[in-house]
Amino acid sequence: MDEITQLPVTRLYPAHQQDLALEGLYLDHDLYGKGRPGRPFVYSNFITSLDGRIALASEAGTTHEVPAATANSRDWRLYQELAGQADLLVTSGRYFRQSLLGEAQDELPLGSRQAFDDIREWRAARGLAPQPDIAIMSSSLNIPLAALEPYRTRRIYVVTGEEADPDRAAALQDTGITVIRTGSGTKVNGRRMLDELARHEYRSIYAIAGPAVFHTLLESRIVDRLYLTITQQILGGNSYDTLSRGDLLDPAQGMRLVGLCHDPHAPNTAGQLFGVFEPQDPATDLRPDP
Ligand SMILES: NC(=O)c1ccc[n+]([C@@H]2O[C@H](COP(=O)([O-])OP(=O)(O)OC[C@H]3O[C@@H](n4cnc5c(N)ncnc54)[C@H](OP(=O)(O)O)[C@@H]3O)[C@@H](O)[C@H]2O)c1
Repeated sequence: MDEITQLPVTRLYPAHQQDLALEGLYLDHDLYGKGRPGRPFVYSNFITSLDGRIALASEAGTTHEVPAATANSRDWRLYQELAGQADLLVTSGRYFRQSLLGEAQDELPLGSRQAFDDIREWRAARGLAPQPDIAIMSSSLNIPLAALEPYRTRRIYVVTGEEADPDRAAALQDTGITVIRTGSGTKVNGRRMLDELARHEYRSIYAIAGPAVFHTLLESRIVDRLYLTITQQILGGNSYDTLSRGDLLDPAQGMRLVGLCHDPHAPNTAGQLFGVFEPQDPATDLRPDP
């Protein structure tokens, strides 16, 4: 295990204030157990600066990347713990294009480092496969096959709209990838995607992509929980991403605070808050899509 991840965090909410081990903090949430047959538990996580940046323009200016100032191994440990509880990751076509450019943050979890051995053991003890399967949301179907090679031991789905390019879809299917069409045009409908994935018996779905994917899930009111790390830094920058991008959510998605910890140990010059939020009104989950 890493020395830095052995330092505790301080729980601020629910009261009372208490020091807790960082390692195991999120594994204890048992997200896999929260999924019901036909209705997987859907969760996401972001690390953001105080001014709301989750990504800034890369040095080459070709894509956006998680800022070096915010990325840190304590948050990364919790990210791995969240992934450890998933039987399916939802990511984006853009991730694989970035990954070929060497601009993706890292390999998709679970990470192979020894420091995460206990997370692998946690999975094995619950009968989960060594690695979560992968669903890639994409309109363009521009997904470089070479970037998928490291993940061929997992089931891979590409989720797209009804009118996405049939030749590209066929080329993906020819390599053993399951293509799911859910949504008019080329855009995925979040609720229909969830229904389809539930039919494949997934129980805990972890969305690790960025603002457009997260917005798709919010629009369909299918997010059960948001893990949000707020690093206490202000970054500025002219070209950036925030948590969500898409049409106005009407009504706005209210989120109630479920948990909050303060971490004084990272990033180096600041500290960070680990927040856990759930939809204020879970009943909205039952509303039909507009
Ligand atoms: N700080 C953090 O915690 C954090 C977390 C996640 C990501 N990020 C950063 O945020 C930036 C953006 O990440 P991202 O590109 O993965 O984010 P994204 O904006 O969620 O994904 C964009 C791509 O996802 C596909 N997509 C999204 N919604 C779709 C829908 N409804 N239907 C069909 N396809 C859809 C499209 O792929 P196609 O282009 O293939 O059609 C689209 O170009 C990156 O720099 C990433 O590193 C930061």
